[in-house]
Amino acid sequence: MKILYFEELPSTNDYLKSVPFEPFLGVVALSQTAGRGRRGKSWLSEREKGLYFSLLFPPLKENLTLAGLAFGYATYLALKELSPDFYLKWPNDVYINGKKVAGVLPEILKDRLIVGVGINLLYAEEELSSLSVPATSLKAQGIEFNYDLLVSNLYNQLVEHYHLLDRGFFKVDEFEKACPLVGSPVKVIEGEKVYNAFALGVDREGALIVETSEGIKRLFSAEVSVREVR
Ligand code: BTN
Repeated sequence: MKILYFEELPSTNDYLKSVPFEPFLGVVALSQTAGRGRRGKSWLSEREKGLYFSLLFPPLKENLTLAGLAFGYATYLALKELSPDFYLKWPNDVYINGKKVAGVLPEILKDRLIVGVGINLLYAEEELSSLSVPATSLKAQGIEFNYDLLVSNLYNQLVEHYHLLDRGFFKVDEFEKACPLVGSPVKVIEGEKVYNAFALGVDREGALIVETSEGIKRLFSAEVSVREVR
């Protein structure tokens, strides 16, 4: 396990874009000045209040949606060591008690795959209140953790899931079982378009299958955002 530690970086994902390729190289920054989330959003990255981690892999044959699901599942498993209450929200967010606690940003380049993971550790919920979805942190949920152990568990789970993907062994039904959105009514946000649907399941490519008034649709993570309907 090789992990580099930095006091501050613009973004751990961007750092791994800039280095000579070295498979399974991990990088942690205590803070980021330009932390990025999915779909062009920024990622709050205050010093030591979150875990900001990225890992470098050889490119995969699998599409990025499926890879995102597998790495989200890996992050969920690392967090499950701390509490049984975590669950997944398609495509790759980890939630607890209706609030987001972690997210995954997979990025593919010609010669490398970069998987970035952000986990909210010490933020008070008020500090997260301006985000686009309700968010929380391990501390705000009363969950104790050991930083170094969390980093090594996360590293190991991500590497294991990389190998599962590479061999075609990642099973989406494991993901579905941990994702209560499946089997529920949902609201789909597709650019300007917002519509209600029912989430039927996840297919082998990682697309979310939904039933809408216009029939069955396959949703890909780059294009849509899905919300639970209560
Ligand atoms: C999401 O939008 O849910 C994904 C968030 C990913 C954030 C992490 S923090 C470490 C890595 N570096 C970044 O700039 N982004 C990812």
